[in-house]
Amino acid sequence: MKILMVCLGNICRSPLAEGIMRHLSQSHKLDWEIASAGTGNWHIGKEPDRRSILAAKQSGYDISSQRAQQFNYNMFKAYDLILVMDRNNLSDVQRLAKTAEEREKVKLFLDNDEVTDPYWDDSLFESVCKQVEERCKEIIKQLS
Ligand code: 4NP
Repeated sequence: MKILMVCLGNICRSPLAEGIMRHLSQSHKLDWEIASAGTGNWHIGKEPDRRSILAAKQSGYDISSQRAQQFNYNMFKAYDLILVMDRNNLSDVQRLAKTAEEREKVKLFLDNDEVTDPYWDDSLFESVCKQVEERCKEIIKQLS
C-alpha cells in the first residue's frame, strides 16, 4: 500500500500524518510506503514546522528529517491512496485528476471531517498530533 498524505503547506499536518503512519505501519510489520505533499509551493524543501516537530517528539515520533514537496499530477500514478486533511485540499487535488479512478483515490483523512489547520494557533498542534495518531491507528486496523 502506497499512501500520500496531503495538506496545504506540507509543513504542519501532513508531515505529522506521514511520520506517524510510517512509524506505526513499520511497527505493525506492514510493507507500506508513506509520503506527504502540499498543494501549495511556499515551503518546498523545508523541514516540518518546529511546532509539529515538537508535538510529534512529545508523542514519540521523529519527523525532523522529512522535507516538504508540492503535490503534482504524477502522484496520482505513484500512490494507491491520497489522504487529504481538509475539503480545500480535497477540491484542489481532485481538480488535477484526469480520470474517475484518479479522483476516487483522493479521500479525507478523517473520513467525514477536517483536520484543523494549526498554522496560526500554537495551541492546536498537540491536539492535531493526537487526532492524527488516533486516525492512523484506525486506518491501519481498516486496511491491514
Ligand atoms: P499545513 O499548514 O497545510 O498543515 O502545512 C500550513 C502551513 C503553512 C501555511 C498554511 C498552512 N502558509 O500559509 O504558509
